Amino acid sequence: MSAAVLDVYLTPADGVEALRSDARAGLTASPKDLPPKWFYDATGSELFELITKLPEYYPFEAEREILRDRAAEIAAASGAESLVELGSGSSEKTRLLLDALGAGGTLRRYLPLDVSEAALREAMDALSTEYPGLAVRGIVGDFTRHLDRIPAEGKRLLAFLGGTIGNLRPAERARFLRSARDALRPGEQLLLGTGLVIDPSVMVPAYDDDQGVTAEFNRNVLRVLNRELGADFVPDAFEHVAVWSDEREWIEMRLRARHPMTVRVPELGLEVPFAEGEEMRTETSAKFRRAGVAAELEAAGFDLTAWWTDRAERFAVSLATAV
Ligand code: SAH
Ligand code: TRP
Repeated sequence: MSAAVLDVYLTPADGVEALRSDARAGLTASPKDLPPKWFYDATGSELFELITKLPEYYPFEAEREILRDRAAEIAAASGAESLVELGSGSSEKTRLLLDALGAGGTLRRYLPLDVSEAALREAMDALSTEYPGLAVRGIVGDFTRHLDRIPAEGKRLLAFLGGTIGNLRPAERARFLRSARDALRPGEQLLLGTGLVIDPSVMVPAYDDDQGVTAEFNRNVLRVLNRELGADFVPDAFEHVAVWSDEREWIEMRLRARHPMTVRVPELGLEVPFAEGEEMRTETSAKFRRAGVAAELEAAGFDLTAWWTDRAERFAVSLATAV
């Protein structure tokens, strides 16, 4: 039997406190804006799982193709004893890395970190059964705040997959990369998944699918506000919008009010007016180019060691070494 331990750095009470302050700032801003980590309660994590199975959501398959083709190379280049994964979710693609690092003979432990305790517990239960010799230690935490808590045992590979880095705004991304660098020793490595800038006619449907799963995922953030803050959002009163910005090179997800309304958020003492057609930004998903990724990594104190793409060049996985 393997040891599966869960460290909680983000208690439900911390979570509600952070949600209150984010919601207060975001709902009173102009334009209104909510940070993306609040999508991922248990329902949100399940909806994201469904998104990864949609035909339109190519990033999942593209990244899996890269990991399938390159896992042995990644394992050989890293020689990691500890695989740490940020925003691990269901740890689905991670199994390719666990298999290759296991076959390489170096891997001792896996440390997934996620804000979603439900997703983390489910992934850990499955992995403990599938990988009986592996020590699994989960961390309920926020990757923008808790990288200094990552245990320093063994040579580490820090994986950040799924293009989730694109959900951070540029300044936040620079801070994140520096804190990732600070959490590592020289020679330890970062494995980073990034969506690439491609034809908007392919990118946009990945965030606006025909079955409306992504729309439900987007509206889920309103259900979280209703449950946690006693708000009275009517989710169906908001339309899901996904647009590509050529200037910022990101997909922007918004919720557009179908009619004028006032939403009450009693726990914040707020009454929030929405005009007809008013849009609230809920998520950005930046897409990248090789030169940009290399420059951002370098600015944070990493060397770009390897760059791999899927055959259709829609997604990239970078291996970067802490200098
Ligand atoms: N890595 C998986 C899941 C990507 S979805 C994949 O590639 O398929 C993004 C994941 O990051 C979710 O599991 C979500 O719960 C988590 N997440 C989002 N914001 C976070 C934050 N600030 N800190 C930690 N985890 C976060
Ligand atoms: N990390 C994922 C991405 O940017 C998150 C995501 C996928 C997402 N689809 C979404 C976030 C829809 C909000 C809405 O690709």
